[in-house]
Amino acid sequence: MKQAVARAAIPHVVEGQVVGVGTGSTANFFIDELASLRLRIRGAVASSEATRKRLEAHGIEVLDLNEVSRLPVYVDGADEINRSLQMIKGGGGALTREKIVAAVAEKVVCIADQSKLVAVLGRFPLPVEVIPMALGHVRRELARLGGEPVVREHCITDNGNLIIDLHGLEIADAAALESRINQIVGVVTSGLFARRPADLCLLASGSGVQTLVAD
Ligand code: A5P
Repeated sequence: MKQAVARAAIPHVVEGQVVGVGTGSTANFFIDELASLRLRIRGAVASSEATRKRLEAHGIEVLDLNEVSRLPVYVDGADEINRSLQMIKGGGGALTREKIVAAVAEKVVCIADQSKLVAVLGRFPLPVEVIPMALGHVRRELARLGGEPVVREHCITDNGNLIIDLHGLEIADAAALESRINQIVGVVTSGLFARRPADLCLLASGSGVQTLVAD
């Protein structure tokens, strides 16, 4: 299913332009599919060091986001997605760079299998990237939101920071929660992609790939 949905994303890549590439096992399938297009795109922007390495191993040129004035499309997986195409991301720890690339992209395409589609976000623990000095403070503030904050063990992000996973939330208003968490001093970003959700979701099931747009 991951390979099928990765392949279905290829027609969204704009020839002659730069493509944003996400992180994770589904995005890895997309990178493998993208290899056949490498001479027809200007290059790629990577949302993590792991993705950069995989792109380069396929001979795809990786550009610094600051060198890029236009990014027509960003393709990435998700840990959860709802019918409004709001997502939880960051299970692989790449949430901040993913969110930056998504902010620049004109179109965000989520590629996922049907297990990622949920009615209410929050069963998947919400990742929050934290400046190490602020860990205790952020953990206490996150606990006030009602969930159980757990520091992810043995995880240093590509930006040199830590991750707290916030368990046990039922996220009724994802955009409001995203704004609230952004206000906590010491938070770099959260894995809630609600204020900038996906524009479309390619969702794979046993019977094929369907395209979801926000309801
Ligand atoms: C990486 O930090 C995440 O945001 C991934 O996009 C997400 O975890 C989906 O990964 P899989 O495709 O491996 O499920």
